[in-house]
Amino acid sequence: MKTIVYYGSTTGTCEDLANRISAALGGADVKNASELGGEAADYDLLVLGTSTWGDGEVQDDWFSALDTLKGLSLAGKKVAIFGVGDSESYPDTFCGGMKAIYDAAKEAGADVLPGVDASDYNYSSSAAVIDGKFVGLALDETNEPDKTDERIAAWVSKLK
Ligand SMILES: Cc1cc2nc3c(=O)[nH]c(=O)nc-3n(C[C@H](O)[C@H](O)[C@H](O)COP(=O)(O)O)c2cc1C
Repeated sequence: MKTIVYYGSTTGTCEDLANRISAALGGADVKNASELGGEAADYDLLVLGTSTWGDGEVQDDWFSALDTLKGLSLAGKKVAIFGVGDSESYPDTFCGGMKAIYDAAKEAGADVLPGVDASDYNYSSSAAVIDGKFVGLALDETNEPDKTDERIAAWVSKLK
């Protein structure tokens, strides 16, 4: 399955996780979200990641990329989403940025793969939780870095 990872990252955390997810996938292409263009439609699986800024929003690299994503025709393509946040400092908006990516991918007609069970996280609310599940893989390098490798491995094994 031809796979690419696009990420948005301010201080490098989401970028690092994008590379770790790529490695877990066996070496997928990796690009910054600001470079997202028509080439995205050449892939079978798009893995889309953002850290969370503001009040549960996507990281800046995604601002114009979300519009580009919405305009693509991704029918028959798979999308998997991951989000990076800080559940202790931002418990009310934890990893909320994933929701805007989810909405854009749906608008493009993609098949968005299931996310992870929210009961595994210490947070109080998130726009990215639907029916008890995050719309993607939630990661918290600030408070739970020791859980990250295991979370990535479990999620990637389901994507494959
Ligand atoms: C000003 C500011 C706002 C933030 N807002 C949120 C938020 O709403 N929800 C969340 O889960 N994390 C939030 N975070 C935490 C970041 O997403 C987290 O530090 C992340 O690891 C940064 O990743 P990056 O270096 O890839 O951008 C915020 C951090 C800062 C400094």
